[in-house]
Amino acid sequence: MTAAPSTASAALPSAPPDCDRTDPAGEGAHIARLYREHLSSGRAVLGTVIGGMVETGSEGVWVFTGDGRRYLDFGGYGVFLLGHRHPSVTAAVHRQVDTHPLASRVFLEPVAARAARALATRTPAGLDHVHFVNSGAEATEAGLKLARAHGHTALVSTLGGYHGKTLGALSATANPKYQEPFRPLLPDSTAVPYGDTDAMATALAALGSRACVIVEPVQGEGGVRVPPPGYLAEVSRLCRTHGAFLIVDEIQTGLGRLGSWWGMDLDGAPRPQHAAPDALLVGKGLSGGVVPVAAVVATAAAYRPFSRDPYLHTSTFAASPLACAAALAAVETLETEDLVNRAAVLGDRLLAGVRTACAPYTGGMVREVRGRGLLIGLEFAEEQAVGELMLELVGRSVLVNHSLNATRVLRLTPPAIADEEHVGLFLAALTEALRVVATRLGRTV
Ligand SMILES: Cc1ncc(COP(=O)(O)O)c(C=O)c1O
Repeated sequence: MTAAPSTASAALPSAPPDCDRTDPAGEGAHIARLYREHLSSGRAVLGTVIGGMVETGSEGVWVFTGDGRRYLDFGGYGVFLLGHRHPSVTAAVHRQVDTHPLASRVFLEPVAARAARALATRTPAGLDHVHFVNSGAEATEAGLKLARAHGHTALVSTLGGYHGKTLGALSATANPKYQEPFRPLLPDSTAVPYGDTDAMATALAALGSRACVIVEPVQGEGGVRVPPPGYLAEVSRLCRTHGAFLIVDEIQTGLGRLGSWWGMDLDGAPRPQHAAPDALLVGKGLSGGVVPVAAVVATAAAYRPFSRDPYLHTSTFAASPLACAAALAAVETLETEDLVNRAAVLGDRLLAGVRTACAPYTGGMVREVRGRGLLIGLEFAEEQAVGELMLELVGRSVLVNHSLNATRVLRLTPPAIADEEHVGLFLAALTEALRVVATRLGRTV
């Protein structure tokens, strides 16, 4: 099925005139051919099924396509907390491009130092040493290597967890679909059920201080799975008891996505018992929606191997002035525009609206609607409904995502800069798309 733009989308304003509009149909076919020949035939098929549009621009909550349409981006894989091309971030990045985008790596680099301080002052107490990298998976790799440098070589992850697809990170991304073609992965890796502290206790009792635990405060790619209250605090306590190393992966949940600076803050445990990781992973929103960048933020003790030898774990482009300019501007903008609180308020409004839209189908086509802040999941009874709904939403000029480790869950990660009108547009499109899909699948309740 191809997502044909519906009349509902005609109500949305069109793309700005400077958007590339040259021969949209021909351009789409040409780009799909280039994909087939040089990038990925599978991706070419997906792009064609979605309608063959090519994206050529973005601004705020909108993504523009070459045919002059614009799409409300409530997906973006969790990256666009600040929306697309936030003016503060693009201005900082432009300044950096015009002065010093990539460093010699001989002298000290001021933008990296300032970005590290900006990030470290917003992370929980004790997490103050920052290693910038270029992607979430690289942040996971850096965290795993820090653990190994301290002798924590047995990896414990959680089922449904997602930590990236490089070989080390993939060992913790416990999804057979992504792991099997690349075995053997890291030896001594186990995955325990998420949210289950007894299973974690058993694993840690067996592994003791050899263990390195990696866990998300809410599983994003795992289908927006929220653990029982106090889960992270208990995992943290177990790690301390057994001398294990704890990595909390907030690549998707951090920087305000859940309506607080860190997902850890919402764990439900009272302050003194809060989770106290050795390393925290940050990514996605750190880019400001402009330049790819991620980071591992560790305690002084955990970070010591990297601190002592700055060449122990390096990458040519890591901590580039360009990426750090984006990270610094992103973190400062989240604060100056009060976007963390905004994510909480907007998230509550959106979750309530999505629940209302799904209510007629709950118990039938829709299994559950759940979420925290601006990370919301709609779980369906069957996988087909997710694909159909995504296409119907594209047809109504709205973009959303599925979950990589939970194919029956449609995932929303809208920007915190969205306003009530955007939420209203989204909910209208969702209500209509649900009705069409339920009718087509014969799942009206
Ligand atoms: C929690 C989490 N960790 C790690 C990653 C991997 O990040 P990247 O895709 O930038 O490598 C993701 C990506 O979705 C993620 O959600």
